[in-house]
Amino acid sequence: MTVVDYDAKIPNNVDLAGDRRLQRALESWQPRYLEWWRQLGPVAYQDSDVFLRTAVSVGQDGWANFGPVKMPDYRWGIFLAEPEADRTIAYGDHMGQPVWAEVPGEYRADLRRLVVVQGDTEPASVEQQRRLCLTAPSLYDMRNLFQVNVEEGRHLWAMVYLLHRYFGRDGRDEADEMLLRHSGDPDHPRILGAFNEETPDWLSFFLFTYFTDRDGKFQLASLRESGFDPLSRTCDFMLKEEAHHMFVGASGVARVLQRTVELMKEHDTDDVRPFGGIDVATIQRYLSFHYSVSLDLFGAETSTNAANYFAAGLKGRFQEERRDDDHRLHDSVRDVPAMVDGTVGTRSAPALAALNETLRDDYVADCQKGVDRWNRILADVGASVRLPHVGFHRAVGAFAGHRLSPEGDVLTADEWDAKVAGWLPTDEDRSHVIGLMHGVTEPGRMAGWIAPPATGINQKPVDYAYVEV
Ligand SMILES: [Fe+2]
Ligand SMILES: [Fe+2]
Repeated sequence: MTVVDYDAKIPNNVDLAGDRRLQRALESWQPRYLEWWRQLGPVAYQDSDVFLRTAVSVGQDGWANFGPVKMPDYRWGIFLAEPEADRTIAYGDHMGQPVWAEVPGEYRADLRRLVVVQGDTEPASVEQQRRLCLTAPSLYDMRNLFQVNVEEGRHLWAMVYLLHRYFGRDGRDEADEMLLRHSGDPDHPRILGAFNEETPDWLSFFLFTYFTDRDGKFQLASLRESGFDPLSRTCDFMLKEEAHHMFVGASGVARVLQRTVELMKEHDTDDVRPFGGIDVATIQRYLSFHYSVSLDLFGAETSTNAANYFAAGLKGRFQEERRDDDHRLHDSVRDVPAMVDGTVGTRSAPALAALNETLRDDYVADCQKGVDRWNRILADVGASVRLPHVGFHRAVGAFAGHRLSPEGDVLTADEWDAKVAGWLPTDEDRSHVIGLMHGVTEPGRMAGWIAPPATGINQKPVDYAYVEV
């Protein structure tokens, strides 16, 4: 059992005190991180007590501690899951060999890239969400937002630790860059497109945590399979925190729909806007937007990088060890979506090259589960929402540059223009949603467009004062 040094300046279970150079380097990064948090983290409530959960150990029970914390005092630390004894690489050309405790020289550049791209998304989402605290629909929701934010901050710490500890000078430079790129900054943007859009309202926030954080879940799950054991153990623990982010999104959307259903029944109409609700059609358009931009995050259907990462043992598939195949994939092929003679079809591709698509498939199946749960709420009024076709509104891969309807029909520019207002959020939708966003800071009260949660956090009642206002 790794000892957790919780009283250190940087809480950790990696024996930071035993490596003075590393400790000094991270301690000099820490004030810059805090300055970033102050400047680009939440725009308000930085000096309020927030009922947060803090990671204090990585064991089965008791890893999370709940209590009032001022966000800048949050104990951001470095926590790796316990090592698995005699772990071996589960796939690729090194299958069966012991995992690596240090970075193999030949994979250094690739591993650094994987860590940097993952790490960059973590502070990006905090930046995207920084104004949302002003319009939180309840203190319960504000607290959940802050919980997600501090944990994304911790995920940055997790990646910065790896960069400092295992990648020398370049790693330290990359860690500095993490605080210099900013979401939406025209000169120094975040690396991935979806992380440069502001999250302007709470409906977007819930859909972002459902769809875009879920991309994160699948990326982390693939990196947990890494032959580079410190990366694997880091991601393993991050996934525990990520589960809460999925919950915030899934339950947030469910509560919006619940409230919409109540208003539809009460007023006997689909058009709940005059009654301060968000109609199902608008929610569907927001859903289609967030789903489609999140699908792009998985990359093109076929990718040499993805094939190389897998063959090298750097990044596996989702739940690699549960898969029933040879885990090398040199001889297998699969179909991937493709545009064939102007219509949606498939082409055959080497399974190794198609790993982005395989991960996207797993992601789509996971997304569908939430949609099914949401539809059980909507069944009450005979309504439903759905995931649009994977080719709808795509900017990356085979469908980029084509115009597909949510059903997957290929359209001309004119046909698309005539119909897009029914499929993606319009200016009118956005102004209606934004118009509903007013901060509600009385304990237990909810904004009129969202139902209360079924239960509070960590056995506290829903009307607990989760944030000091
Ligand atoms: Fe994260
Ligand atoms: Fe997350």
